[in-house]
Parts: sequence; structure tokens; C-alpha cells
Amino acid sequence: MSKQAVKSESYLAPFNPTDKGAISQVVKLANFLDTDVLCDLGCGDGRVLINAVKKSPLQRAIGVEYDEVYYKRAKEAVAKEGLERQISIIFGDANVVDTSEVTVFFVYLVPEGLKKIRPKVIDALTQNPGCRVLSNIFSIPDLVPTAVFRYSRANLKLFLYDAQSVRVGSKAFFEFSRRYVSVVVAALFVSVSWLSSR
Ligand SMILES: C[S@@+](CC[C@H](N)C(=O)[O-])C[C@H]1O[C@@H](n2cnc3c(N)ncnc32)[C@H](O)[C@@H]1O
Repeated sequence: MSKQAVKSESYLAPFNPTDKGAISQVVKLANFLDTDVLCDLGCGDGRVLINAVKKSPLQRAIGVEYDEVYYKRAKEAVAKEGLERQISIIFGDANVVDTSEVTVFFVYLVPEGLKKIRPKVIDALTQNPGCRVLSNIFSIPDLVPTAVFRYSRANLKLFLYDAQSVRVGSKAFFEFSRRYVSVVVAALFVSVSWLSSR
């Protein structure tokens, strides 16, 4: 890994590329418009971005990568395809990079990394109508996907999120808390009644 100063708490996932089959599904499910801006948070060698730009009307894509080795690989791959005007690769930490112009996020991160990136995703989904997020293999904690797609014999999944995921997610959490509190109150009530009847 490069010597770039990224604190260990920023770490989102080790490098593991998304396979070709999954990338085709991403391109299909994202339903890119030429006005969309795709961002791969932790873009590795840039393969998702390159495929998305080549196989859809997408005109603009951004990759953020903090490992210098993969950052360089992504830059080279983009240059090899002659896509420098459409695809920017940023050498930095995906947790802090400005993504205000992004309309579609792609993430392939470990669950711990998804937990860290969750506030950024929620901000984007709530502030940018039409924004969507695709997460490869792992779901984003406490968000309810609008759709889940299985794409391999190993039953790997792609999770699709939109603004509805945040609203439904908070509602589900509220319902759960409400039920949990009711059960605790009921248990207390039964215990107190039982104790006072002795
Ligand atoms: C599982 S790989 C996914 C690569 C690519 N998105 C794909 O699907 O082929 C995760 C990538 O995230 C990068 N990464 C981990 N933490 C990061 C951070 N804080 N900021 C930017 N990139 C990060 C890793 O170096 C790695 O290349």
C-alpha cells in the first residue's frame, strides 16, 4: 500500500475487483442518462467506471482511490481507453472527497467500510433527488434496498438504493424501537404486578 497519509480508520476495503458479469448488471440497473455522474468510492483499477462509460450514455465518471498502486493502474487504464475527458481518478480518501455533483454511486466495500460511508450516501440520497446507489455483494447497514439482484451461481447480490431507502429505513428503525420499548414496558408491568401481588 502507498505511503499516502490515510488514517487507518479511513480504510474501507482491500482491493478485490468486481467481476465482469456484475459490471454488466451495474450498467443495466443504473440505467445511466447522459446527465448522470457516476462515482466509484474506492475504484481500484477503474474497471467499473471504464465499462460504464463505454457501455452506456454516461459522459462523466469519477473514481476515488487511496492506494497509490491502484490509483496509478486506474489512471493508466483510463488513458489507454482514451477516456481522460470523461473519467477522473482522484488519489485520496473516499470518506472526505467532495461528491456533491454525483448522481450514481457504486461501492464494493466490506461491511465495516459501508458503515463508514453510510452518512455520505444518506446525504446524497436525501439531498439529490434521483440519486441512486449500487452496492456490490454487501448491503449498506440500516438502509432498505429498493431492489436486490442476484447475478451469479454463487448467489452474489447487487443492492440498489434510492431516496425511498432512507425514508423506509428510518421508518423501519422507528417501528423496531417502538415495538422494543413496548415489550420492555409490558415486561416491567408484569414484573411489578407479580411482585406487588406477593
Ligand atoms: C473491493 S475493492 C473495489 C474496487 C473497485 N471498486 C471494483 O469494484 O472493482 C475496494 C477498493 O477501495 C479502496 N479503498 C479502501 N479504502 C479507501 C478509502 N478510504 N478511500 C479510497 N479508496 C479506498 C481499496 O484500495 C480498493 O482498491
